Amino acid sequence: MSQERVNFGSKLGMILATAGSAVGLGNVWRFPYMTGQNGGAAFILIYIACVLVLGIPCMMSEFIIGRHGAANTGRAYGKMGTHGMWRLVGCMSVLTGFLITGYYAVVSGWCLQYIFSSAFGELSGNPEYITRYFQDFSSSPIKPVFWTVAILALTHFVIIHGVRSGIERASKLMMPTLFVLLLMVVVGSCMLPGAHKGIEFLFRPDFSKLDSNMFLAAMGQSFYSLSIGMGCICTFASYFSRQANLMKSAVNIVVIDTLIAVLAGLMIFPAAFSVGVNPDSGPSLIFITLPNVFREAFSAMPLVGTLIATLFYILLSLAALTSLISLHEVSTAFFYEELHITRKKAALIVTVSCCIMGAFCSLSIGGREWLVIAGRSLFDVFDFVTGQIFLPVVGFLTCLFVGWVVPRDIVKDEFTNWGTLRGSLFTVYLLLVRFICPICIVAIFLNQLNLI
Ligand code: PHE
Repeated sequence: MSQERVNFGSKLGMILATAGSAVGLGNVWRFPYMTGQNGGAAFILIYIACVLVLGIPCMMSEFIIGRHGAANTGRAYGKMGTHGMWRLVGCMSVLTGFLITGYYAVVSGWCLQYIFSSAFGELSGNPEYITRYFQDFSSSPIKPVFWTVAILALTHFVIIHGVRSGIERASKLMMPTLFVLLLMVVVGSCMLPGAHKGIEFLFRPDFSKLDSNMFLAAMGQSFYSLSIGMGCICTFASYFSRQANLMKSAVNIVVIDTLIAVLAGLMIFPAAFSVGVNPDSGPSLIFITLPNVFREAFSAMPLVGTLIATLFYILLSLAALTSLISLHEVSTAFFYEELHITRKKAALIVTVSCCIMGAFCSLSIGGREWLVIAGRSLFDVFDFVTGQIFLPVVGFLTCLFVGWVVPRDIVKDEFTNWGTLRGSLFTVYLLLVRFICPICIVAIFLNQLNLI
């Protein structure tokens, strides 16, 4: 059966598609901020350590389940498990991916709107105006819903063209474009007067800021940034060929993801410091702080400013879109294989339900009371439940599953491509996935819930 399954057509396509999933809004709106707040280069070093100890083994585990299971995430877990419960874990991973698609699409839609807002000069005004512009836009009942549907329609278009002509082709086009645009904005930002202060702030290691909270934050970020625990990595791995070197692929993807996160820092900090603004994180960074920063930093050359801001939102939309495609594929593959319907029908079910979910999430931002649950807007509820509860739970169980339940021979065969690759790292991997990763994930989980 695994031979019949459609594969990515090339190694490059496989790496770029999976890296496309990993590179997303998190790289731009969280990593630079966390780096700035937590001691610059010291944080980057800790982050890299977390990626090595936690990120790569967890990614490898999903690779192994996906490629061996050669099916959607729910079925892949079920096939390899000894007990029906493992299928449930796989299904929970699909559900996490599905729920995230709904609210991730909302923010991705905002990025699309901001391409036009910046290109048409709508973002020129004083800081109060830019804040109000964002508040009015994001809470309006029509515009953001329209953009949510628009970006889901784009995703749908890619997905229905299948794995090779859809996902792989789109990633091969979008990822290099994203990279080039990023470099252009980095150059623009680093050439501003006073930019060196931002570069110094980002890269000056300050080890006095190191503490356990920062460690936990770095671990959480590595998990999120690599799209672990949402079925994305597992689903894509089900399209990997038997020749693919899993360890090498994981390293490539992690390097791309980290490089882009660091470059995002080089895009934001120099510009922010040149106008004396301290960058924050989350939606307010990219939709309020940065438009201000771009406008002020390039006030002597407004056209360059408009160009840089527009390129920035295009690259952000590309990053969001590639992540959205991987999220959509998780549910599409699930419905397609479980309901025995065509890929197109499965994609349509996912798109329509995500449009509905996204519309409600978007509407909940305006403070509409019927969309507030336990004091949080529906949007925040989705974010909280998926990111802080489902994700660590699935990640934890996945480590236990691969470490303790799946027969060791299967894991070793996948790790070493049936003995054709050197397996010297296998023992280290097993040690990490059996003991270290589960312990770290429990710590992140408790920390996120403020229990430690
Ligand atoms: N890894 C993505 C990022 O860094 C986040 C993401 C979440 C991707 C959910 C896919 C699914 O932004």
